[in-house]
Amino acid sequence: MCGIVGAVAQRDVALILLEGLKRLEYRGYDSAGVAILSRDDRLQRVRVAGKVKELEDALAREALYGSTGIAHTRWATHGKPSFSNAHPHVCRGEIALVHNGIIENHEELRAQQLALGYEFTSETDTEVVVNQVHHHATGGKDLLEAVMDTVAELDGAYALGVISRSEPQRLIAARRGSPLVIGVGIGEHFIASDVFALLPVTQRFVFLEDGDIADITRQAITIYDSKRNEIERPIRVSELTADAAEKSGFRHFMLKEIFSQPRAVAETLEGRIAEGRVVEEAFGPNAASVLDTIHSVHIVACGTSYHAGLIARYWMEAIAGLPCSVEVASEFRYRRLVVRPETLFVSISQSGETADTLAALREAKQRGYAHSLAICNVPESSLTRESELVVMTRAGPEIGVASTKAFTTQLVVLMLLVILLGRRHGLGVEDEHALVAQLESLPGKLNAVLELSDQIQTLAEQFANKHHTLYLGRGSLYPVAMEGALKLKEISYIHAEAYPAGELKHGPLALVDDDMPVVAVAPNNGLLEKLKSNLQEVRARGGRLYVFADPAAGVENSPGVQVLNVAPIEEPIAPVIYTVPLQLFAYHVAVLKGADIDQPRNLAKSVTVE
Ligand code: G6P
Repeated sequence: MCGIVGAVAQRDVALILLEGLKRLEYRGYDSAGVAILSRDDRLQRVRVAGKVKELEDALAREALYGSTGIAHTRWATHGKPSFSNAHPHVCRGEIALVHNGIIENHEELRAQQLALGYEFTSETDTEVVVNQVHHHATGGKDLLEAVMDTVAELDGAYALGVISRSEPQRLIAARRGSPLVIGVGIGEHFIASDVFALLPVTQRFVFLEDGDIADITRQAITIYDSKRNEIERPIRVSELTADAAEKSGFRHFMLKEIFSQPRAVAETLEGRIAEGRVVEEAFGPNAASVLDTIHSVHIVACGTSYHAGLIARYWMEAIAGLPCSVEVASEFRYRRLVVRPETLFVSISQSGETADTLAALREAKQRGYAHSLAICNVPESSLTRESELVVMTRAGPEIGVASTKAFTTQLVVLMLLVILLGRRHGLGVEDEHALVAQLESLPGKLNAVLELSDQIQTLAEQFANKHHTLYLGRGSLYPVAMEGALKLKEISYIHAEAYPAGELKHGPLALVDDDMPVVAVAPNNGLLEKLKSNLQEVRARGGRLYVFADPAAGVENSPGVQVLNVAPIEEPIAPVIYTVPLQLFAYHVAVLKGADIDQPRNLAKSVTVE
């Protein structure tokens, strides 16, 4: 999704802005640009309909000097990816602006501005914002007032960075619905869509709240809320260091993140289990009294996080004995639904900024859910600030667009929640000990499964020229199959669909032939024999099977069947382990296809628009 960086400093800021954009590349984008006020107060702009590297090359040819500037990576919403749609947008050479979000009333504003004689050079919804700021500024207002008046007229979501030729030492930032942080320096200040962008220049941040407008100069940061009252927002010191977002010798961020799962899971568990039991306070000081009241659970999330919720539903009903429903956030937020009493609303989000998930949480608060709990990987994200209870996944920064370690750590937190709720609904101490022992065994088991990477790479070679594939699983391994299929389509662009294996004969079996490989996950559980019958149905139609199986599952290599043995793992924790070979499989197939692993086409890491 669009990324914003801005700076007001004493030194030249072009390289700081460029480095910030590089650090935001992981969010996904299609074009990039920068605008800088020169020392003689000219507004200079360079844009490219391509990657930040191309912007860097353009800046090498045409260096921009100046100490106030804004920069942007654009993920197209209104108007195709192109040079003229790239940000910053400039009005009459006076005001430059970058925007993340969607302005819903842009057509109405555009009509008003056309009547006032404004011209448009792009198809974006953003251009109306810069024109509107210009309109108010020419009415005698300073830049701060002009932005305040403008945002009061906007419907929709925005994070904005605005600079003006007539006030060269000033940067105005505003946010509603889209993320924006201020980086606090010494004699210089910055803005960005997230903290990673600014880690090389500061570790001190102010997180803007919805509706905030910030007046930023080299010496001061003054923040106003949506009612224009000056307010204080705390400065927080990030524990992240600049190298948190580096590849550390791995070829891709995704591979680094897959391989960091044993450590990430161990960190997620750290301090949250003691003497074989889950530590209740780890869910916050109010957790006990909240959880005491809960008799059902509704989980809402998007993408990979949604898949984590689907797995948790099997656990919640089987272990805690509580009814649990799971829904994608974009559906939940627009549906009339019946809220069961004493229901915990659980939102899951790696980024904590996904627009639909955030809106769902806000909606849930209106609709009378008893309590809310967020499972998130990014401290100080909007979701964590708005949810009643918060549990962090502690996976560390996840840069690859295709989510990996965030997913497995979400599962770990969800299991902790299931145990805490289960305790209140008949889960015995011995059973809790057994579950905790499974959780504690995860880092070691994950290390073992990572050792299969080379074998999985060999298997992947047979896939690189395929166009379609089916993924099968049963029970809690069905969402694992869904997650495996999602990984493959996200990064290799091979069409992959997941089915609960028992559904195969109700339609998808018609697709199976020699050219339609079928991937299955087969732990040694109560559904194994059923799954094996389903696999036979595939073989009988000439389909080729690739099975990730427990050695005791009795699935053998044979013509048309290739088996990759995964170390034995108990239920119910098996989904965490079986996810990993599917991540590696998608990764190796995508590498063989020469795809852009960390920034797959058309996708964004943090989806901050609806
Ligand atoms: C995007 C990402 C996915 C992610 C989904 C939900 O689509 O590309 O990897 O699963 O958003 O993101 P969240 O940050 O809410 O978990």
